[in-house]
Amino acid sequence: MLKNNSLLQRSLTSVWHPCTQMKQHEQFPLVPIARGEGVWLYDTDGKRYLDAVSSWWVNLFGHNNVQIKDAIKAQLDTLEHVMLAGFTHEPVVQLSEKLAKLTGLGHAFYASDGASATEIALKMSFHYWQNTGKPLKTQFICLQNSYHGETLGALSVTDVAIFKDTYAPLLRQAALMPSPDFRLAEAGETAEDYALRCAEALEQYVREHHATLAAFIIEPLVQCAAGMGIYHPAYLKRAREICTQYDVHLIADEIAVGFGRTGEMFACQHAGIRADFICLSKGITGGYLPLSAVLTTDTIYQAFYDDSTVRGFLHSHSYTGNPLACSAALATLAIFENDNVIVNNRETAAKLNGFLQTHFDLPIKHLRNQGMIWAFDVQTQNSQFAKQCYQAALQNDLLIRPIGNTVYWMPPYTLSHGEIDFMVKATVASVKAAL
Ligand SMILES: Cc1ncc(COP(=O)(O)O)c(C=O)c1O
Repeated sequence: MLKNNSLLQRSLTSVWHPCTQMKQHEQFPLVPIARGEGVWLYDTDGKRYLDAVSSWWVNLFGHNNVQIKDAIKAQLDTLEHVMLAGFTHEPVVQLSEKLAKLTGLGHAFYASDGASATEIALKMSFHYWQNTGKPLKTQFICLQNSYHGETLGALSVTDVAIFKDTYAPLLRQAALMPSPDFRLAEAGETAEDYALRCAEALEQYVREHHATLAAFIIEPLVQCAAGMGIYHPAYLKRAREICTQYDVHLIADEIAVGFGRTGEMFACQHAGIRADFICLSKGITGGYLPLSAVLTTDTIYQAFYDDSTVRGFLHSHSYTGNPLACSAALATLAIFENDNVIVNNRETAAKLNGFLQTHFDLPIKHLRNQGMIWAFDVQTQNSQFAKQCYQAALQNDLLIRPIGNTVYWMPPYTLSHGEIDFMVKATVASVKAAL
């Protein structure tokens, strides 16, 4: 096994790491991970870290999960990959059938990352309006502080300055609707009242511009990259009504919140709505292999079904519908089917919330919880809080990645009582060290 230092140096020389100013690694060393087990990651020297962010929100059932691992191994013995244009295979068909049942949408179109799913949904929406004789419907709207990925199309509907501003000259302009994130409410306003006030602003914009609007893309219930901005489901309900009334597509980006993260299988279920497109990724394979999917309505699908080739959706990626990734997704869905995951998560959440009552003495605002997501905003003058808290946490055997002053947990669902205890106490110590 390589010693930490040698691997770190080779990584800095040969790898361009994501979401990183590489020069900062002169001060903050990379963490060289050798293996994972359950909620724990182990570095090459055997030091462990509790993965409280599920490795960027992808891991649902722990690292080294036997069921998912066995499913991938079995698939490896039969078919590793075949292109999906002109060909098909059992895992992709089974997965598409299961996803259709779960979402109420269909005709799953696959890619490998969340941002690609966003691109696909935006292109499909635009193309639908072209195919149905409404060529003026070319514009997209999204929420303030939204995040839908970092390819150019996805960045156009993302509102996070640090990721977007540099590339602004390359991007289309999408109109921003007021965010229903409850932290932005007036004092004394309820979450529902604030959500409905934001929905009124949405309606006004859509009423005036619907002739040129293709779609409204939204992160249902939680704007994760904005710092876990949670909002009332009344907003989603109104957004659905408004989009239907004015003939604008609703795209639900459930990439981060899908697969049980918010306490229901999909976040839209909290509002009892169905979008015109759903984008899925991250947890879809339990965090094992890259896979994303976009599902849509029969009406939209039928508008592409034609003798003319160019009226079809000709988008493609080489690894579309990869059998190994599909087998990981099928194993993940089997765990949901067999293990009562959503109900068990409610118990885990209740335990964690109980723990917070007694073990939490920090200068914070907006302590919030939705399903298996927790967040709070730390009141501190320290402009380096996020970095220092992250570093302190690593010292305390914990992986958290604060977003600005927001500290959050999005742990694997398999977190045990003892691990909850550990995570909360290590977080409190790490926040205190960075105040
Ligand atoms: C809501 C949402 N959409 C899209 C993406 C982009 O996914 P990916 O990083 O796989 O491209 C993310 C990633 O965090 C996300 O949270």
